[in-house]
Amino acid sequence: VQKLGIDSIGFYTARHYMDLSTLAVARDLDPNKYHIGLGQYTMSIPAPNEDVISMGAAAGARALKNIDKKTISTVIFATESGIDQSKAGAIYIHRLLNLPPHCRAIEFKQACYGSTAGLIMALPMLLANPDQKILLIASDTARYGLNTPGESSQGCGAIAMVLSVNPRLVSIDLRTGYYTQDIMDFWRPNYRDEAFVEGKYSSRMYLQGLNETWSHYQAATELGFQDHDRFCYHTPVPKLTEKAHKYLAKHCKVTLNPEKSNAHIFDSLIYGRLIGNTYTASLFVCLVSLLDNCPDDLSGERIGFYSYGSGCVAEFFNGTVSPQYRDHLDTDFNKSMLQTRLPLTYSQYQEFYNFTLPVDGSTVEIPALAKCDYHFTRLSEHKRCYEGEHEPVE
Ligand code: CAA
Repeated sequence: VQKLGIDSIGFYTARHYMDLSTLAVARDLDPNKYHIGLGQYTMSIPAPNEDVISMGAAAGARALKNIDKKTISTVIFATESGIDQSKAGAIYIHRLLNLPPHCRAIEFKQACYGSTAGLIMALPMLLANPDQKILLIASDTARYGLNTPGESSQGCGAIAMVLSVNPRLVSIDLRTGYYTQDIMDFWRPNYRDEAFVEGKYSSRMYLQGLNETWSHYQAATELGFQDHDRFCYHTPVPKLTEKAHKYLAKHCKVTLNPEKSNAHIFDSLIYGRLIGNTYTASLFVCLVSLLDNCPDDLSGERIGFYSYGSGCVAEFFNGTVSPQYRDHLDTDFNKSMLQTRLPLTYSQYQEFYNFTLPVDGSTVEIPALAKCDYHFTRLSEHKRCYEGEHEPVE
């Protein structure tokens, strides 16, 4: 049987961050509420010249580093912070990355689940054309109102994955468990910049989705909890992932000591604790974090993945780490990209947050407050312009 999965991964996040200790002072709260209560330390905040397109292109450039661009047949862009109701964000990224014209470009949406939908639906396409590859990009900005309970679970970032046959990083098992239920736990009407969220309800539904997908997954695979060596969960806040993992173990009647639980999920949460929620990218940020930070050789290990998108659709699936995966990671770049982020003062945070664009078609040059390779440069006649690195197609 032909293996299908993730051949390379690029990761990117905004150049500035808000320290939750700084936010705690502004909100007159104990910082432990964030550090211990949520498991969150800092969150990436986009400057005006960064958005889901610029971050997605930057992640895409990393993922394509050792890939022949001519083999990319399709770009799938998953987001819930889209910049247009009609045109796919994938088209801007396709141009910024100088991909060949005979390539499809589309956008997927279903809250944080959109990227998993892209993965599961794209992989079988490769069976028909095993010489081709697919670029899947997940990019989001998690934005909630200032001084609301969601404020401390903001963040932003992007993941780009090249999907192929015989993947160099992780092969994905297409026997999965999935679940849909029409609920209003989190949503963002077209006329709003910030999401509405029923925080506690959404956390309960996240756990219910885990329960439902797990039963469906078990029936499809006959795999048990103990057949998985590591776990990656969609992570709105790391504390919810820790709770979900305990919940799943209990549901499977497995006794988990803290050491075992840490071995399962600790490394997957390292990056998320620093960048915050990244919606569609979050599950795969966990994967990159695990691959980059786990001191053990993960070759041959099975990872369980839980994807949850409010609204809601959820899916549980697994993947097996390829031998020699370490030779194909981007760990040094990822770590230095995180280390070189700049802290925001509370007033800079407000300034970034409150930056708005005209809606009357007038021209505005976007202040280049973040130094990045790809950026949003101007809005003119309702059209967004981007600039970035251009490499010729070989
Ligand atoms: N020291 C230590 N712990 C403290 C503390 C202190 N000083 N003060 C409070 N805490 C603890 C609380 O005891 C609580 O712990 P438990 O969860 O174990 O009870 C924890 O901090 C959180 O505090 P609250 O219960 O007051 O919760 P909150 O009001 O901060 O809300 C949240 C948390 C619901 C996640 C909120 O951030 C939110 O609404 N976020 C947006 C929605 C969200 O992320 N939902 C998750 C599921 S939906 C989804 O997955 C899709 C998606 O990406 C959005």
